[in-house]
Amino acid sequence: MPLWLYVVIPYPHSPYFSITCLLISLIPYLSAMKIQIVNGPNLNLLGKRETSIYGDQSFEQFFQDLKKRFPAVELHYFQSNVEGEIVNKLHETGFDFTGIILNAGAYTHTSVAIHDAIAGIKTPVIEVHISNVYAREEFRHKSLITSKCVGLLTGFGLEGYALAIS
Ligand code: DQA
Repeated sequence: MPLWLYVVIPYPHSPYFSITCLLISLIPYLSAMKIQIVNGPNLNLLGKRETSIYGDQSFEQFFQDLKKRFPAVELHYFQSNVEGEIVNKLHETGFDFTGIILNAGAYTHTSVAIHDAIAGIKTPVIEVHISNVYAREEFRHKSLITSKCVGLLTGFGLEGYALAIS
């Protein structure tokens, strides 16, 4: 056994040895990154909606794949078409989660309430858009939430969510 392990686990044959080993093996789970994905209006239609822009995969399918790609991360997914429910989810997860990945859909361009919710929580929020909003209609060029987010990923398709996690 390396010398330094005797410092961490001084009595290898005592019952404390197995307890210490157990606690050490639990560390990655106890300190697991908790990430909340929040999708806004119409994103429940992914896979069916304007597939030339948003692709043909549903978010539920993609989410299963995402969980396999990031086994060490505790991933949570929430979608709502209702502005207030998105605000509630940000409040609920905004103080003890490691990060929030937010695609606020069309509310990105209109919602002062979501802007204020991001400003009011502690958890860092990354803004994600599947399409490149700057290559689309002018009304999509304005985001009311970017200034309160730690970063923005736009135009990488669903892969943007994976990039936000890594
Ligand atoms: C979107 C872009 C928004 O402008 C649009 O309203 C959406 C989806 C995107 O992921 O590309 O609903 O957020």
